[in-house]
Amino acid sequence: MIENLKKELKQINNLVELNQLKTNYLGKKGLISQKMQDMKTLSPEEKKQLGQEINILKKEIESLFLAKENELKEALINEEIIKETKDVTMPSYKFNLGTIHPLNQTIIDLENLYIGLGYEVAEGPEIETDEYCFEKLNLPKGHPARDMQDTFYINPELLLRSQTSPVQVRTMLEKKGKPIKIICPGKTYRRDADDATHSHQFMQCEGLVLGHNITLADLKGALLEMAKKMLGEDRKIRLRPSYFPFTEPSVEVDVSCHKCGGKGCSMCKNTGWIEILGAGMVNHHVLEMCGYDPNEIQGFAFGVGIERITMLKYGIEDIRNFYNNDLRFLKEFKEVK
Ligand code: PHE
Repeated sequence: MIENLKKELKQINNLVELNQLKTNYLGKKGLISQKMQDMKTLSPEEKKQLGQEINILKKEIESLFLAKENELKEALINEEIIKETKDVTMPSYKFNLGTIHPLNQTIIDLENLYIGLGYEVAEGPEIETDEYCFEKLNLPKGHPARDMQDTFYINPELLLRSQTSPVQVRTMLEKKGKPIKIICPGKTYRRDADDATHSHQFMQCEGLVLGHNITLADLKGALLEMAKKMLGEDRKIRLRPSYFPFTEPSVEVDVSCHKCGGKGCSMCKNTGWIEILGAGMVNHHVLEMCGYDPNEIQGFAFGVGIERITMLKYGIEDIRNFYNNDLRFLKEFKEVK
């Protein structure tokens, strides 16, 4: 019987068939039951003998069925596992990643550069007082130089800041005569008609360094680093005399053209130089108005246009590109770092 069963089990491929076969052997009317039935007519001695044999046989049959059942169940599990396996080498869905806006990238670059030189990043409000935006910067009411910045006034005392320079004032008043080394990037506003080079809202990054024995040479060093980092390691800078009410002497700073290397091209209007920012030594009146003794502490300030430097860096000709949020424009900066 065992040999027969083994042969039959080999043919079985699923649990339904197995159960069927199990009933044939171990069910109420199965082969084992029949054998028990046959014992009825035997003597008690023979019954005992045969009974034991049948029990052994039954156990053997049961273990064969159990083994086959386990084998079939394992095969089923393996089949499931294979079906559910994920192919990790398959290409993924394409999805669009955003990018850092080129103006933010410029701010990040400037912050990294100046933090590396020991500066701190300071911030101030975009709605400013006339006092901090102008008066304490040596621009009293009625001063003609106010016309350089056409300002949005909210009322006679409050305005949308037209420059980041009021953050200098705030920091000086806060530090009360102590040395300062900060940059202040942020939004600024002017009543300009929007065109390719003007935007009523734009951004600046201010720099202010106050300490003992700070000179124009320190300013030059700080700005040369910026020119190199933003526009290429072989850039040179030159300082031209200029005028700002809050600095004395004041300078305008040019950088050697990164497109032609200084030979002259359309980008630099054939001069080899491009104007990038305004700067100077902080005017003594400003220091005094903000609680500093100009005989003790002095220093420099600079202000650079974030859009301007970004346009130069990437060769962008229209400032409005930064604010239109046209994805075709923004996507061009995916690979740029
Ligand atoms: N705030 C000036 C401007 O907007 C730039 C500047 C800053 C000049 C600091 C000198 C010193 O034109």
